[in-house]
Amino acid sequence: MIYLKTEEEIELMRESCLLVSKTLAMLAPLVQPGVSTAHLDKLAEEFIRDNGALPACKGYEGYPNATCMSINDVVVHGIPHHDIILKEGDILSIDMDTLKNGFCGDSAYTFPVGEIAPEVKKLLETTKASLFLGIEQAVTGNRIGDISNAVQTYCERAGYSVIRDMIGHGLGHDLHEEPEVPNYGKRGQGKVLKQGMVICIEPMIAMGKFELDIDKDGWTAHTRDRKFSAHYEHCVAIRKGKADILSDFSIIENALKNKN
Ligand code: MF3
Ligand code: CO
Repeated sequence: MIYLKTEEEIELMRESCLLVSKTLAMLAPLVQPGVSTAHLDKLAEEFIRDNGALPACKGYEGYPNATCMSINDVVVHGIPHHDIILKEGDILSIDMDTLKNGFCGDSAYTFPVGEIAPEVKKLLETTKASLFLGIEQAVTGNRIGDISNAVQTYCERAGYSVIRDMIGHGLGHDLHEEPEVPNYGKRGQGKVLKQGMVICIEPMIAMGKFELDIDKDGWTAHTRDRKFSAHYEHCVAIRKGKADILSDFSIIENALKNKN
């Protein structure tokens, strides 16, 4: 069942989502060669707790950490580790969740580590642009397939492939609620979008093929061909005419600008 949120609930969700964005902005200048993903995870967890929230990922289906730190060919659910050290030219997707006032926040951003190759930069730009094309479709009266198709068409035209095994989702009291929000699909298909639906749109886009393998840890999902993939995620509330984006990349991007 799709749980429609009231305006009051959407405001609480905005708070949870903004806390994710603020945490990502806090981490942004620290995403540098030589830093371990466990260090970034620890800082994120402290920041979330200091702001009166819980890290919703931690313990979710046994997931061990507050954040998912996915480097290069790792698409999602990379487990932070002291031995995983960022190096120049890497890309790092940080995906994390908060729980505050009974509602989850969820957002993800892929960061370049130092200087990255021009073709990798293009992958990041395309993936992020596809997210905003998906968001443009996230209005009352449209269908889930309109979002999915916008993301897929744009990314495939650029020569990339859309990950099939991992998809976006509804968000609320739970991290994963109905409806499912795939990044591939046909226009005019799927559930009709209604005022009060809150969904996470999260394109995961690969430079090579879309097949995934999961590591022995049961979580880390990497592309089978080991080519890079990127991931950006916003949480949006469905409204008439224009989606209401509850997370915020501008504070992350300002933090990145100030770093340089
Ligand atoms: N934000 C992730 C998602 O939407 C969830 C991470 S928690 C995990 O899939 F436990 F699943 F890793
Ligand atoms: Co999500």
